[in-house]
Amino acid sequence: MTRPLLNQRLSGFGTTIFAEMSELAAATGAINLGQGFPDTDGPAEVREAVVRALRDGRGNQYPPAAGVPELRTAVSAHQEHWYGLSYDPDGEVLVTAGATEGIAAALLALLEPGDEVITLEPYYDSYAAGIAMSGATRVTVPLRPDGQRFTLDLAELRAAVTPRTRLLLLNTPHNPSGTVLTRGELAEIAELACEHDLLVISDEVYEHLVFDGDHLPIASFPGMRERTLTVGSAGKTFSFTGWKIGWVTGAEPLVRAVRTAKQYLTYVSGGPFQYALAEALRLPDSYFTGFRDDMRAKRELLCAGLRDAGFGVFVPQGTYFVTADIRPLVAAGVELPSNGPDFCRALPVSHGVVAIPSAVFYDDKEAGAPFIRFAFCKRPEVLAETADRLRAPAQSRRVGDGSSSDPEL
Ligand SMILES: Cc1ncc(COP(=O)(O)O)c(C=O)c1O
Repeated sequence: MTRPLLNQRLSGFGTTIFAEMSELAAATGAINLGQGFPDTDGPAEVREAVVRALRDGRGNQYPPAAGVPELRTAVSAHQEHWYGLSYDPDGEVLVTAGATEGIAAALLALLEPGDEVITLEPYYDSYAAGIAMSGATRVTVPLRPDGQRFTLDLAELRAAVTPRTRLLLLNTPHNPSGTVLTRGELAEIAELACEHDLLVISDEVYEHLVFDGDHLPIASFPGMRERTLTVGSAGKTFSFTGWKIGWVTGAEPLVRAVRTAKQYLTYVSGGPFQYALAEALRLPDSYFTGFRDDMRAKRELLCAGLRDAGFGVFVPQGTYFVTADIRPLVAAGVELPSNGPDFCRALPVSHGVVAIPSAVFYDDKEAGAPFIRFAFCKRPEVLAETADRLRAPAQSRRVGDGSSSDPEL
């Protein structure tokens, strides 16, 4: 058989690095700060609400295609309460199987082959696959390290727009860099989108993890409501990543287009979870600010540990990820490889810690080579142990030693 089995649009999208690194973590007993999921579940009352919904027979059969009305109404009220954005629960809110499906369905719905999509680089890995499946072309604009932060050069963004550009795929707070786009940056991006009549998908799954100042949805800028789809995630906001419930808000014609694609992907998902999340979105503000404050304390803990260990650290302004620069460590003589992917393969063995090489989020692998990403959505004792392990001299943990590590850590 000469023809490859995998559709050529997906060639090059092999097993993700997350699977490889998680296997390495299991085999070595390393602490896994690779994948972005919390090691404590979200609010108990929200879990109980799922149990109630299951028992009461709410959501056990196909929910409505757009999501249960209770959740759509709660999403609408959330956008109004936090951002003053008003969306009609009937037609301007769509519940999806995680943010991932919302983004993929939006890309499939809105793009034609030949269209160009601009994303910031580094980018969350599902963007490249979603754009590829739609047949459109990915164009990246780099966020470059600039002192303390990864910064967008707005002139470069402007220069990337061509007559074929159809859509900007934004992400703020940004994974993996931790950058939060400023009001000034968002205003310029909004002007650019209006000037060139571009659509915008704004991935705001870390909306409640902005550590300084407020989260600003680009949909709230002049001229943006009618051209922007905003994506949220219960996995990220309520620490239930396994439930895979997300939502998309936007003007009715945009949401209708996404719904058309989405109905042939999953149609619907997670009925009982939807009822519970309707309650979660109505939790008092103290839940959301408490979640942020807790994650800020974890950020401080891990950033201090990384600095002590000799990494360069880009303190994130948002998200639960921190990017570290391995060059200072390698320059100081630590016996670890000098490029991120090899460094991350060696680190579980030498120090018992798993991180993700940022190069996987880059088209320009050289640009990403010095950086690695750690997730800090873990219990303080796990972050403290990580810091201790990274400070210690390199050891040689044998692959297969995994069972000897403390599984409760
Ligand atoms: C930027 C970004 N968008 C989307 C997602 C996926 O969200 P969900 O689990 O709701 O599909 C993630 C998960 O890590 C993410 O980091």
